[in-house]
Amino acid sequence: MKSSILFLTTAILAYVNTAQAYFYVPSFMNSLPFKGGMAYAQKNDSLYLFGGENATVRYTNDLYKLTQTATSYNWEIVPQINAPNGTLYSQSYVTADGQNLVLMGGMSNATYGRGLPLQIHTYNFASQTWTEFSGNNANVSSPPPAEFIYNREYFSATYDSKNQLTYILGGAVSAANQVFSDFHVLDANFKSTALVSPPYGRYGHSASILSDGKLVVIGGVTTNGSPALASLQSAWVYDPATKGWVEQNLSTTASRYPSTASDHTAVVTSDDKIIIFGGDSADGQRTRQYLNTIAVLDCKTWSWSIPSIGGIPPSRRSFAVGGLLDGGKHLTVAFGSSSNSYYNDINAFDLTASSWLQSFDESSSNGDGSVSKGLIAGVTVAAVVLLVIILFLLWKFQSYIRWLVVRIHNDIWKPRTGEPVWAETSRIVAQVFFLFIFAMFLYFVIRQAVDSPNVTQRIEYAAAEVDVPDVRFCYDGYPSQSATYGPPGVSCQTDNGYSCTEHIKQLNMSVFQPTFSDNLGAVNCFLFRAPDDFKMTSTSGKNNGSRLLFTMFGDQTTTYGRVHVSVFAKEMDPNAKIYGYDDGMSNYLSEADVLNWQTSERNDLQATNVYTIQPFTYSALSYDIVDHRYLQPVGWNYVGFLPVTNSTPEIESNFRSEAPNPTYTSGHIDLGVLAVFPENFATLVDREVKMYTLVNALGFVGGIFGLLIAAQAWLFGYRPRSPWGVVHRWSTGSRKQSLLQGLQQKFKTTDSGIPLVHPVHHRFSVNEFQNLGQETEAQRVSRVEERMQILELLFKAYYVDDEVFRSLDNAAAVGDQNKNHHQQQQQFGVATPGTQASANPFFASTEKLSPYQQKEDQNGFSHMFSERQSRGSISSDANSQVNLHSAQDVHLRDMR
Ligand SMILES: *[C@@H]1O[C@H](CO)[C@@H](O)[C@H](O)[C@H]1NC(C)=O
Ligand SMILES: *[C@@H]1O[C@H](CO)[C@@H](O)[C@H](O)[C@H]1NC(C)=O
Ligand SMILES: *[C@@H]1O[C@H](CO)[C@@H](O)[C@H](O)[C@H]1NC(C)=O
Ligand SMILES: *[C@@H]1O[C@H](CO)[C@@H](O)[C@H](O)[C@H]1NC(C)=O
Ligand SMILES: *[C@@H]1O[C@H](CO)[C@@H](O)[C@H](O)[C@H]1NC(C)=O
Ligand SMILES: *[C@@H]1O[C@H](CO)[C@@H](O)[C@H](O)[C@H]1NC(C)=O
Ligand SMILES: *[C@@H]1O[C@H](CO)[C@@H](O)[C@H](O)[C@H]1NC(C)=O
Ligand SMILES: *[C@@H]1O[C@H](CO)[C@@H](O)[C@H](O)[C@H]1NC(C)=O
Repeated sequence: MKSSILFLTTAILAYVNTAQAYFYVPSFMNSLPFKGGMAYAQKNDSLYLFGGENATVRYTNDLYKLTQTATSYNWEIVPQINAPNGTLYSQSYVTADGQNLVLMGGMSNATYGRGLPLQIHTYNFASQTWTEFSGNNANVSSPPPAEFIYNREYFSATYDSKNQLTYILGGAVSAANQVFSDFHVLDANFKSTALVSPPYGRYGHSASILSDGKLVVIGGVTTNGSPALASLQSAWVYDPATKGWVEQNLSTTASRYPSTASDHTAVVTSDDKIIIFGGDSADGQRTRQYLNTIAVLDCKTWSWSIPSIGGIPPSRRSFAVGGLLDGGKHLTVAFGSSSNSYYNDINAFDLTASSWLQSFDESSSNGDGSVSKGLIAGVTVAAVVLLVIILFLLWKFQSYIRWLVVRIHNDIWKPRTGEPVWAETSRIVAQVFFLFIFAMFLYFVIRQAVDSPNVTQRIEYAAAEVDVPDVRFCYDGYPSQSATYGPPGVSCQTDNGYSCTEHIKQLNMSVFQPTFSDNLGAVNCFLFRAPDDFKMTSTSGKNNGSRLLFTMFGDQTTTYGRVHVSVFAKEMDPNAKIYGYDDGMSNYLSEADVLNWQTSERNDLQATNVYTIQPFTYSALSYDIVDHRYLQPVGWNYVGFLPVTNSTPEIESNFRSEAPNPTYTSGHIDLGVLAVFPENFATLVDREVKMYTLVNALGFVGGIFGLLIAAQAWLFGYRPRSPWGVVHRWSTGSRKQSLLQGLQQKFKTTDSGIPLVHPVHHRFSVNEFQNLGQETEAQRVSRVEERMQILELLFKAYYVDDEVFRSLDNAAAVGDQNKNHHQQQQQFGVATPGTQASANPFFASTEKLSPYQQKEDQNGFSHMFSERQSRGSISSDANSQVNLHSAQDVHLRDMR
């Protein structure tokens, strides 16, 4: 017999609350107790829970009710009158009439180690009153009669509601190192009868009753020779009809049997299946291992099945409570303990989906085959319809599509005259290849920006004034009231003598009390919370000082007591929310943040900005309040320009405490002094930025694009870019019309042909666009002049910048001003424009034009003159040259 099995130490205890593996009910985080070893009984869709142990109290006597609702769970503390002493490892059930809860056995302060009869208490739901069974204090004769049942732990009490009988089997008394092998039945009045005992002692097992009244005993530790975990390859079965035990061999549908376990939780379904959860290896505490698995024993076929489990499994544990609270759809498992950890979670296992749930909504979204078949059919029909629509559209707009294809082809396939096909082909292949490289690069760069990690930059600005933090002092172990020293307390003053004690308030511990696992005794907390205009100033003068000096008072004789000091940024102080501070200061904490903080406090899991002060010491605490600008998870932040952030004030602190002064009490009535001061007189900003953003990426993309263009030009030569852009080239309808009209109006398109498109003379061309055969020399010259003029105008408008030409002209004009005017006039011969041209037979087709247009058409220069003449600025002096050019300049600017 391993005595260590039976002793659970309470030395250093921790609570466990795993991150949301459990069924999520937000308000439960702070209301469910951390408990193991509770007695539990099911009544309809509720579990009644009594007693059990937590980290500080070994025997508790609270009565709770856990009810499963359609969507969640309810938790209630059930009122009790005349409650029994706290018990641990008791068993309980609700009587068949649903009127009473019966509590049996278990360990308690009063029964510990005493050979008392089985302790029985009855709770009446109607009167909310406990009644003690009269036999609880019966004298025990030695040796006791066969029907006598010793009080015990780790036993099974199985209620047969049809016959209102209770079967008590096995168990142990840890204080006496005793394991029982007896088997009794109690009637409705708790009168016991001894039944035939099983072959040997057993504890930590479960005994479940089937619909036919048979009792099935699974798991636990048997004492056949040395104690060992009972094999799950067989079960003890008691048949009330034959009043005999059978060792039933069990098979398994899985490749293995479930893990053997003690102290597991067993629940029977209405179709005689036993579901077991959790348990432990019953080793000593140092080596004990825990389970969180589920196995199902089908008692019709006597075979095990081990379902494959989905969802997030609960923490491993023993002594959990369990039940099927909604008619067998979900297994509820809650509380329990493992080693020094106690759980306060509720876990729901969906039996049909074989999965742990975080909420009941999940289980309703089970996809099944028929739905997905319907989905496939729907998608197919939709695809066919879409295809038909696309084909119809293709047919309907075929001319447009053909035009589009031709345009795209023309845009891509542009061999230069005289260039062989292979040259153009390789150019296009290279272009596609470069495009591919560019697309890959673009993809890489964008992905890098999207997956970019965040980095934090610290920015400091010098500041004369800084905010003060909130400081919480929790007195741990100091009596709330002491005859000589009064209650604990804190006073505050700054280094220049300003008293800030008015900003310290005692916190109401019945609203929320932090937990300190050292359990030194009473906990009383005070909070220093100054208004916003109370600042620490670096300079001397008329201000409130540069550091805070807190003096702590309390019972000086309580030398083991400690003061736990926490610092918070004002806007991030959960105490302000919990204790209902109404000071108008903003608080950025959400309800969930506060609940999480409270859970950590209850678990004593705070490690940052918390310091423990020994009595009779001097301590120094420096702080920095940093404005942490976290990037918000919005798409815009990938761009990397004007990021969306939110400001979270965070506090950073450093602490040093000196050794306690052994003679402190002779000169002081306080417990010690804490100085709190800013580490830096500066405004600190921690700015979070993305390492790669799309704006950064733009630079890379531009570089690579330029490189690829350069490579393309180097390999396949430079091709002049068109002065027209995509907007011009791809415009359609009236917009295209207006573009072409504009060109036609401003640039002559007559029979002299378009330069670079039509050949200069028909002998260079196969297309005879005019009968040019009989033209005179003058006509030819005029035609070539006209072509020349169009060429100049087009070049000037679209291809070349004429600035240097104009400069040259200006320079020439200024240089010539001093010369003979007559000479110049003769040289240029521009005095009589238009007269010859009107006689030119080459322009036969211009007869229909207006006189103004006609002049323009005859000669580019004539137009300039007509414009100038109409403004009446013509003169016959040398200035006319300059005027002419400036007039032409205006005209061309208009055309652009
Ligand atoms: C343990 O239970 C007792 C009684 O219910 C309670 O007063 C105490 O606060 C609990 N301790 C912890 C640490 O939960
Ligand atoms: C509780 O325990 C004390 C001894 O610790 C005992 O005197 C008292 O009778 C017990 N009360 C009940 C209701 O069992
Ligand atoms: C369960 O609830 C039904 C009605 O809701 C009630 O008739 C029945 O007695 C209840 N059973 C128990 C055991 O309380
Ligand atoms: C029972 O509780 C009392 C105080 O309530 C304590 O002094 C005593 O040691 C406890 N007895 C046992 C056996 O735990
Ligand atoms: C138990 O025995 C004592 C004497 O040993 C006696 O006084 C007392 O009445 C007995 N109690 C019961 C319930 O029989
Ligand atoms: C159980 O199996 C063992 C062998 O593993 C066999 O000896 C025994 O007879 C079987 N018992 C029953 C009831 O079938
Ligand atoms: C502390 O809080 C409790 C419950 O919220 C309240 O009943 C009590 O009056 C409060 N005590 C003080 C001193 O405010
Ligand atoms: C000192 O602090 C108080 C708040 O406690 C504030 O009202 C006052 O303006 C401060 N004085 C100076 C000089 O800053």
